Amino acid sequence: MIPPGPRLPSVVQTAWFMRDAPGMLARFQRRYGPIFAVRYTGFPPEVYVTTAELAEQVYRTDQGGGRAGEARRDFLEHIVGSHSVLTLDGDPWWRHRKLLNPPLRAKQVAGYHDDIAAIAAEKIATWPLGRPFALRDRMQDITLEIIIRLIFGIRDAGRVDRLRALLPELIETGGSMLATMLPEKLRRVPYGPYARFVRLRAQVDAILFDEIRRRRTAPGGTDVLGRLLDTELADQEIRDELITMLIAGHETTATGLAWAFERILRMPEILERLPDDEAYLDAVVKEVLRVRPVVYEAPRLLDAPLELGGYEIPAGWYAGPYIPLVHRDPAAFPEPEEFRPERFLDGPQNRAWMPFGGGRRFCVGAQLALLEMRVIIREVLHRLELAAPDQAPEARRLKNVTLAPANLTRVIARARTPARTR
Ligand code: HEM
Repeated sequence: MIPPGPRLPSVVQTAWFMRDAPGMLARFQRRYGPIFAVRYTGFPPEVYVTTAELAEQVYRTDQGGGRAGEARRDFLEHIVGSHSVLTLDGDPWWRHRKLLNPPLRAKQVAGYHDDIAAIAAEKIATWPLGRPFALRDRMQDITLEIIIRLIFGIRDAGRVDRLRALLPELIETGGSMLATMLPEKLRRVPYGPYARFVRLRAQVDAILFDEIRRRRTAPGGTDVLGRLLDTELADQEIRDELITMLIAGHETTATGLAWAFERILRMPEILERLPDDEAYLDAVVKEVLRVRPVVYEAPRLLDAPLELGGYEIPAGWYAGPYIPLVHRDPAAFPEPEEFRPERFLDGPQNRAWMPFGGGRRFCVGAQLALLEMRVIIREVLHRLELAAPDQAPEARRLKNVTLAPANLTRVIARARTPARTR
């Protein structure tokens, strides 16, 4: 038996999802319970689960039977290439993942602390004062710079400038619905937005391959590229993983930061305790990612039927936790509507907290993302007094695979007088 779900035509479900995914899925959960099936036009049916226990059963398919890579391939391969931990499965995926894990472990990324702080300080100094602006875009400047300098390890000012200009456009053109849905035949048309994307990709690749070649002649370095050059990966594979970290790591982290400020600027009692109590700051970051998880789902494409919650999900369907609702499960997080960092202050980590997914495909950049969020929040709050021009919470808006603040976190900044000391 397959899980229950709405009988609406798939085009209606698709349009509703695009307009208000959180609202639609919360409604289906109320109606059908913690496991239900949704149909989107042009895709296999998708079963969502909304409890930690069911989510873990989906993640367990990473041992065999569930393919996270294939579930992402159509959307990502044209940009990340065919040698990416995001889109590979099985043994080829594990070969890459094993090599990508070590440079992104907590201990390793801790070494980036001061560089992240310096990049943030440099950027914050250019923010406008006294007039509203979209914080999310500014956060993206910071997280992009972190990728260029600490992951790609590019120091040459001219190349940094070139990438700073090219990468946002590459992502914009390559990540649009149009690019991801375009049939293969139309991808070869030599003009239009997809052709523009292909040209940008070639320009970025030229810089990356050149950098890889140059670095091979001067090995070492503490950046992630330096560490990948020490492995068996070939140039093309390294290129694909660099772009993978860019795609998976910079908008997500920027959006997480945007939500952090969107939330804390509306809670003076929380803001007051920030940023110098390290443990509390860490707990606030985790609570932000609970109430506003950036990535909303972590689907697996099933290549064998899966017994789940008393149903049998057919092979060829997607199964995935819907993270915002798992995070609202009152059995896992009592009074889930309340913003309570204390949940994360003591005791072991709650298994239902899954902003970074789970199973073997758990986000490889989670430790870097958490470090970036803590350091950047601290740098901002030390330097500026921020306020939300409108106290009403910002709605959640779908942006590719993320839920972003609808107004991109509008804030007004004022210089902090006197500057807070550490
Ligand atoms: C707040 C920021 C971030 C969030 C919310 C986030 C969330 C996620 C989620 C939900 C997944 C899917 C996990 C699954 O399917 O179970 C994922 C995978 C991944 N993330 Fe992140 N991520 C963030 C930052 C980063 C950063 C900074 C990097 C890289 C430097 C990164 C690299 C990746 C990669 C490569 C994967 C694929 C892993 C695999 O399939 O083996 N992410 N992330």
